[in-house]
Amino acid sequence: MKILVTGGAGFIASNIVDAYIAAGHEVAVADNLTTGKKENLNPKAEFFPVDIRDPRLAEVINEFAPDIINHHAAQIDVRKSVSDPVFNAEVNELGTLNLLNAAVQSKVGKIIFASTGGALYGEVAEKSGAAEAHAMEPISPYAITKRSVEMYLYAYWKLNGLKFTVLRYGNVFGPRQDPLGEAGVIAIFCGKMRQGEAPTIYGDGKQLRDYVYVSDVADANLLALTQGENEFFNVGTGVGTSVNELFAVLKELMGFKKDVVYAPARAGELFRSVLNCGKAKKGLGWTAKVEVKAGLKRTLDWYKTGG
Ligand SMILES: NC(=O)c1ccc[n+]([C@@H]2O[C@H](COP(=O)([O-])OP(=O)(O)OC[C@H]3O[C@@H](n4cnc5c(N)ncnc54)[C@H](O)[C@@H]3O)[C@@H](O)[C@H]2O)c1
Repeated sequence: MKILVTGGAGFIASNIVDAYIAAGHEVAVADNLTTGKKENLNPKAEFFPVDIRDPRLAEVINEFAPDIINHHAAQIDVRKSVSDPVFNAEVNELGTLNLLNAAVQSKVGKIIFASTGGALYGEVAEKSGAAEAHAMEPISPYAITKRSVEMYLYAYWKLNGLKFTVLRYGNVFGPRQDPLGEAGVIAIFCGKMRQGEAPTIYGDGKQLRDYVYVSDVADANLLALTQGENEFFNVGTGVGTSVNELFAVLKELMGFKKDVVYAPARAGELFRSVLNCGKAKKGLGWTAKVEVKAGLKRTLDWYKTGG
């Protein structure tokens, strides 16, 4: 299959590009390298250095003529989305509309879209985690634009026949996640602890999140090439892990001696965000295989070998 991956120089999508190429697909990457890195680019993938907001994206899509577009390029910083919601909407919403219009013009078969389970559902009380029909309470401009793109995808399918699969990720972690700046807690902890610095936990550290390892996310994206048409799927583990537990496991794996520093909780932070992934099991034949501890070990090994 011919697949164009947007954001393919970034953390998650570069892992997906590698998995697609290993499975024998012909892959191209479109990325403007804002947070993505050249060293993440798979040399077997053609690279188009283009911004998804740029009208020239249509030429790229027309030239490469993909069967499927896997759309991961985004403004991913939740706090930046709060301080600059206009920029967030320009990239995540208008950039995506630019992409969808070009996809329709070039008769692309399907879009796979990286959405968020972690930021859409709000507080999750259900023991088994939030299923896809859970009430949505996006409280950041970032989450609002993710939901809005989901709705555009549904509309473009109905209006133009452009198929889609939406994957709503939990908190993704693993090799190539950037510990600098506004990254996930695991990358930040690993970055700090590897420098011998004590990491900071905001709040009491008991907040639960669904941490999913990036190779499992890549597997879901492989399965979504041929399945899950016009559906929405959670992609997580269904297991809530606290920030305190994460720190304890990393401390043990690294033989780290210092203790964590606690700071006041951040406004609007959820206490429990865990995904129910039963639908992905039925609809995609997908379940997460890598447990958090094993994933943390693999991530640390990657840092050790020069990541
Ligand atoms: N990391 C997570 O836990 C998580 C959870 C849910 C959803 N997601 C989604 O997964 C996707 C990938 O996230 P990531 O964590 O790998 O982040 P990342 O920052 O590593 O990847 C984003 C990529 O998009 C590129 N990009 C940004 N703006 C662009 C633009 N205007 N034009 C072209 N390229 C642009 C960046 O250069 C980068 O390579 C995003 O859509 C994000 O919202 C991530």
